[in-house]
Amino acid sequence: MLKVPYVTGYLTERFADDDFATLEGYERAGGYRAARKALTEMAPADVIELVKGSGLQGRGGAGFSAGLKWSFMPTDTDQPKYLVCNADESEPGSFKDRILLERGAHQMLEGILIAAWATGAEKTFIYIRGEYAHPARELQRCVDEAYAKRYLGENVMGTGFRHDVVVTRGAGAYICGEETGLLESLEGKKGQPRKKPPFPAQYGAFGMPTTVNNVETFSHVPHIVERGADWFRGIGTEKSPGNTVFGVSGHVERPGLYELPLGTRLDEIIFEHAGGVPNGRKVKGVIPGGMSMPILPAGQLDVPMANEALRERKTMLGTGGIMVMDDTTCMVRVACVITYFFRDESCGQCTQCREGTGWLNKIVNRIERGAGEPEDLAILVDIAGKMEGQTICAFADAAAWPVQGLMRHFRADFEAHIEHKKCPFSESFAL
Ligand SMILES: Cc1cc2nc3c(=O)[nH]c(=O)nc-3n(C[C@H](O)[C@H](O)[C@H](O)COP(=O)(O)O)c2cc1C
Ligand code: SF4
Repeated sequence: MLKVPYVTGYLTERFADDDFATLEGYERAGGYRAARKALTEMAPADVIELVKGSGLQGRGGAGFSAGLKWSFMPTDTDQPKYLVCNADESEPGSFKDRILLERGAHQMLEGILIAAWATGAEKTFIYIRGEYAHPARELQRCVDEAYAKRYLGENVMGTGFRHDVVVTRGAGAYICGEETGLLESLEGKKGQPRKKPPFPAQYGAFGMPTTVNNVETFSHVPHIVERGADWFRGIGTEKSPGNTVFGVSGHVERPGLYELPLGTRLDEIIFEHAGGVPNGRKVKGVIPGGMSMPILPAGQLDVPMANEALRERKTMLGTGGIMVMDDTTCMVRVACVITYFFRDESCGQCTQCREGTGWLNKIVNRIERGAGEPEDLAILVDIAGKMEGQTICAFADAAAWPVQGLMRHFRADFEAHIEHKKCPFSESFAL
């Protein structure tokens, strides 16, 4: 069982209490009150306006406005409409959705129910990563409880509204977290992303209008309905409101989960909350938002953790998975690990991605072995540049960005390997 977050906020403050994970305990804490309010007192369009007004950004990586996405769902169609809850969480360095599923599934289900009302969706598919066996069992238990209490199924809360929830387990492919790869996998096909347009709101699960949101995105929704858009906007930054659950891993005293307002400074999270770097070592670099986000060097940790500020430093919030590396770390080995992952996980449809991820991996391995040539550095930058923005999905960008970040800030590590014809970082982690 995962420990509960070290710092809690409105999403996770009751996670230490086992009672909260049961329907009765969740109701005692005010659970399903927001859904009742939305379904009985608010028109669907008003719920969408409220969520739009709150400024809630998707927490699955891209940071797109949740309310705006909901407004793309057609209102003039006879086709069934669906929601998909993306619980694939396969981004290395990301583990926030796991706790939200294990300890807060009813909170998420309540958010789903409100989103279903707002968009007119009759069914939600929750696609959960295959390795999350325990969270999947907890989730199913909560879904069953919600059906038994008529929070799901026919005539939800006596309103005449019907909503069904189906839990589907993935089989362990990172690309099935990309929303259209997910939809293909959900339909029983290979998890290969679709060309867009059409976007899921027009042609989604089983060809029907569909909205895909992340576990955490749905989990914020009951709080917004209960306390209002102004309350939500009062937390975080003007452009990035609300809390988020940061997952901190790597070389810190207290790796774990920290629910904090967006805009909290990265150095505050690492040094004050996570206790800094152990063994008197110093930070060398930090990946701020899951493995696909470009790394920041030690001198740039005074950055607020919000997209508007991180973009100025050529990186992004991603999933808020913060990976800290101390000054023993060989950044070429880091590149070897990252490029190996992306080479393995590419679905192979696009040449730039299928071949590019393999080439990047081959070249960084060669450099790490001491067999690199000075021109390899320009080749790495060239390949990464040609993978960006050229492919069916953003996976290729996600594979190129970390290499670009490492080359931007740690080129000297690569040059030292080439010059000395070996890895000069004997204390670094082993490959
Ligand atoms: C390669 C790749 C992997 C992704 N993996 C996930 C994932 O595991 N979980 C997730 O919620 N979003 C993931 N996304 C983002 C989804 O495509 C989608 O934007 C997101 O689920 C939308 O939800 P949100 O708007 O609530 O963030 C991934 C995107 C890419 C390109
Ligand atoms: S970019 Fe990569 S993962 Fe995405 S569709 Fe193309 S080959 Fe597949």
